[in-house]
Amino acid sequence: MTRVDDPDMLPMAWDAARAHDADVLVERCIEGEEYTAAVLGNEVLPLIRLETARAFYDYEAKYADDAGTRYHCPCGLDRPRERALQQLAWRAFRALGCSGWGRVDLMLDRDGLPWLLEVNTVPGLTAHSLVPMAARAVGMDLGRLVWRILESSLARGAREEGAA
Ligand SMILES: Nc1ncnc2c1ncn2[C@@H]1O[C@H](COP(=O)(O)OP(=O)(O)O)[C@@H](O)[C@H]1O
Ligand SMILES: [Mg+2]
Repeated sequence: MTRVDDPDMLPMAWDAARAHDADVLVERCIEGEEYTAAVLGNEVLPLIRLETARAFYDYEAKYADDAGTRYHCPCGLDRPRERALQQLAWRAFRALGCSGWGRVDLMLDRDGLPWLLEVNTVPGLTAHSLVPMAARAVGMDLGRLVWRILESSLARGAREEGAA
């Protein structure tokens, strides 16, 4: 992904993306805070706010220790605002036909308008990943989280068997 701040840079960014795939996605650049919402069963866990010293939350920000990346949970929004974004994340998750668990990435622009970035259907599950971080915020350790993920998958299996 390339962030383009000057229209003259667009062809370069286009070519860089084309080197990977014939399909290129061009999006309006959102400027503002970034959040992620972990979905577990039919619950959305507390939001995490991502803060990076880089231009955006890129590969370096995610995986290099010295990239100046910080995570805030609680995220700093007031409760009604956080609740509204959790509901939005839930609707996006369901609209895409997802169930079980996942993670919805979003940004709030300077006017406070939310923009959904993507839904991750297989989010990270290491001790330093974001879903485990949100789970810890509600007192759920990694072992309990894994059980909850299994239970949500079993519930779905049972529903599908019932429907068959
Ligand atoms: N339209 C956009 N405007 C501004 N920043 C964006 C936009 N789309 C993505 N980003 C930034 O790029 C990062 C990666 O994009 P994302 O779509 O979440 O893909 P992935 O997490 O799979 O790399 C986001 O976390 C965000 O920081
Ligand atoms: Mg993402």
